[in-house]
Amino acid sequence: MAKHIYPHEGVVKREHRERLLGQRGVTLWFTGLSGAGKSTLAVAVEEALHKLGNLTYILDGDNIRSGINNNLSFSPEDRKENIRRIAEIAKLFRESGVITLTAFISPYREDRQLARDLAGSDDFIEVFADASLDSCEERDPKGLYKKARAGQIPEFTGISAPYEAPENPEIHIRTDQNSVEDCVEMVLSYLREKKLIQA
Ligand code: ADX
Repeated sequence: MAKHIYPHEGVVKREHRERLLGQRGVTLWFTGLSGAGKSTLAVAVEEALHKLGNLTYILDGDNIRSGINNNLSFSPEDRKENIRRIAEIAKLFRESGVITLTAFISPYREDRQLARDLAGSDDFIEVFADASLDSCEERDPKGLYKKARAGQIPEFTGISAPYEAPENPEIHIRTDQNSVEDCVEMVLSYLREKKLIQA
């Protein structure tokens, strides 16, 4: 834990930025197996939100792991650290008033809970991109399941590492049974219902 540190606030606060933008800075936390469609859905939802006039940003596992988190492995400890950092980054984005979409497997309930606790319940929307392991493995968009089955990728989620499905996600979408457009509509209607977006 850092010592001799004195956090302080500016005069311009979250509420001022949100008023300027005309939106709430919430986090849409997508979770699900590799290949379940988290990134695809996040990209499509972001496009729809952007068209509706919202300021958005995507934090995506493969991108973040190529940059700020490129020193982390897929051990449980490093996945925890991956999610801890993303939860902190998502907090900064909320403070800036941006609607942030995070797309990480985030396989451990405890780690997702940490991200939720940091946000508070009004600001954290867990979106379970739910697709069966069979369907993810069949699609295998990056060819990783094949490699994992061949023993070339250790600790691969769903094969040799666990995925703990959310028990009470705000939004639960069967991505293997619905079109991307229908999945987007499910997210948008939730946001409309909660008055987080207009129209
Ligand atoms: S998380 O478990 O720490 O949340 P994250 O979403 O950042 O994972 O990264 C997942 C992506 O990393 C996968 O979509 C895949 O492309 C790649 N990857 C590489 N090795 C693994 C592995 N052992 N398990 C899961 N995904 C892996």
